[in-house]
Amino acid sequence: MLIYIDLFYKFAKFPEKKGSLMCGIIGFTGKTDAAPLLLDGLEKLEYRGYDSAGVAILEEESIDVIKSKGKIQDLRNKMAKSHTPTGYIGIGHTRWATHGEPSDENAHPHYSKSRRFAVVHNGIIENFAELKEELIGKGYVFHSETDTEVVAHLLDDCYTGEFFPTVLKAIDRLVGSFSLGILCKDVPDKLVCVKKASPLIIAVSDKGNFIASDITAVLAHTRDIYKMKDDELAILGPDSVQFFDRTGAEIHKDIEKVTWDVDAAEKGGYDHFMIKEIKEQPEAIRKTISPRIDDNNNIVLDGISLTPEQIRGFNRIFITACGSAYHVGVVAKYVIEQMARIPVEVDVASEFRYRYPLVDDKSLVILISQSGETADTLEALRESKKRGARTISIVNVVGSSIASESDDVLYTWAGPEISVATTKAYSTQLTLVYLLAIQFALAAGTITDSAANELVAEIRTLPEKIEKIFEQEEMIARIAERYTYLDHAYFIGRNIDYAVALEASLKLKEISYIHSEAYAAGELKHGTISLIEPGTSVIALCCCERLVEKTISNAKEVMARGAQVLCVATEDNKSCASICDHTIYVPKTHPLLMASLEVVPLQLLGYYTAKSRKCDIDKPRNLAKSVTVE
Ligand code: F6R
Repeated sequence: MLIYIDLFYKFAKFPEKKGSLMCGIIGFTGKTDAAPLLLDGLEKLEYRGYDSAGVAILEEESIDVIKSKGKIQDLRNKMAKSHTPTGYIGIGHTRWATHGEPSDENAHPHYSKSRRFAVVHNGIIENFAELKEELIGKGYVFHSETDTEVVAHLLDDCYTGEFFPTVLKAIDRLVGSFSLGILCKDVPDKLVCVKKASPLIIAVSDKGNFIASDITAVLAHTRDIYKMKDDELAILGPDSVQFFDRTGAEIHKDIEKVTWDVDAAEKGGYDHFMIKEIKEQPEAIRKTISPRIDDNNNIVLDGISLTPEQIRGFNRIFITACGSAYHVGVVAKYVIEQMARIPVEVDVASEFRYRYPLVDDKSLVILISQSGETADTLEALRESKKRGARTISIVNVVGSSIASESDDVLYTWAGPEISVATTKAYSTQLTLVYLLAIQFALAAGTITDSAANELVAEIRTLPEKIEKIFEQEEMIARIAERYTYLDHAYFIGRNIDYAVALEASLKLKEISYIHSEAYAAGELKHGTISLIEPGTSVIALCCCERLVEKTISNAKEVMARGAQVLCVATEDNKSCASICDHTIYVPKTHPLLMASLEVVPLQLLGYYTAKSRKCDIDKPRNLAKSVTVE
């Protein structure tokens, strides 16, 4: 049966939306040279990761791997200088580094020890450290720092004499997310793939059959695809595709016809990267926290080498960053101070670096940056190190300057963020702040183990609660339509609500070009309230349980002067609906984690307002994704 996918489906639930966005994979088996097809496909997937790339081509029972740090063009250049492997079957990969810095060695594909297998992988193998230790014990030698190489060697270790049963046996040992494309030199025309929590499709064409992270990679050849579901595997031959479940039983799947153009396909069918990335937040958070929380809800922070004694030795924590990352720092101040009772100072990095900060060897400085290249944040890091401070960075881009130069680094596993306005990086940064705060509090003795475990359990529920907020998307889009001709907006809140107001206001202004300000709700009456007149829009954040009544009083003050008030409140607070013009409800969580939920409808509000004003949402005027000048 042929199902037609309509563009209208952009609001439907596609598996692509749920996957890790790290890396792009492609594979081909057919009747024509694989390398050019793989390279062209990888170029289309480059938006998913672009720090290194490689291909493996199988010909005459030997697998030839060629890979390079940098973009696909660097790989092409390397091939032009050395050789281009020939053969009708191959796999390719464009990488967004997770485990191990961008380098030739860490680029995929990875060989198994015997070179019988080569593997490309999208996702994170959470139990890679245990597996690696076990495999090293058995004499396997690792040539990269990646989690993926474990899969390659594991295939050798599980080798049954047959390709497909070996794959089934090996993946049973894996925990985490893994879409895999696998070649085996014994079977020169078959490619095996598996999907688990990272996107994967299969495409059939008259040239041969493909696997790919998304349809962008194959649209030049075909529009006939199979969408793989989690725990499904496939064996592809030049003229055949067979599907299986994890037990090895064959299953039937329907082919689907794609009507997307390349642009829509790259955005997973969404109109903009920003909305795609907003929707990826639950998965990005899961990817960020799950490797750092064990089965008993204990935190294991991979990148941090600080002991509890060292944490207790700090007399002050400084947090410095720019823009939205700075806003994460503002949330962090409330969370860390309240939880761990350690004084926290937050500065925008451009101010911090020039204010002769009172930082010394008793200070911990936390730098937050998506790109890891922001010039002011990088200089703030250098300034802190010069003054003897211990530094931790929270960064999204592996191997970036800030990550490399800080003493410890915690990576947000958000995957590449394409939209200039950050969303999923912000949200994943918040979750790492929570985990750090809990660790600090445990070291400081300000919370008990069981309270920490309860908080961690609550952090685990955030992705699901964010998914619930998405159910209100249409309603938020309708509210946004009313903001189409707005000139000014004011966001107010107290405590963490105020910290989120800063971010919500920036989101709205940077993409919709509406003048917007965020105010601590209690501060409004010290001047700014004179700007409120009939019709002025005020967005009141009323999620901070302790202070909600006070913020509502401030909302009433502006309403008395004619303001239109939109309120964001927790679902148990029904009084807001009777007071304010509109109310968006969000699920409840622990008060210190509320930022993660209340920011989401406001990201959507900013997005849909900018959309109704027909703005260039993904690339707002005058802005760049990475700000490498001061
Ligand atoms: C706003 C936004 C910027 C960045 C800022 C810092 O949506 O994305 O404000 O947060 O430029 O960038 P990074 O995090 O790369 O240091």
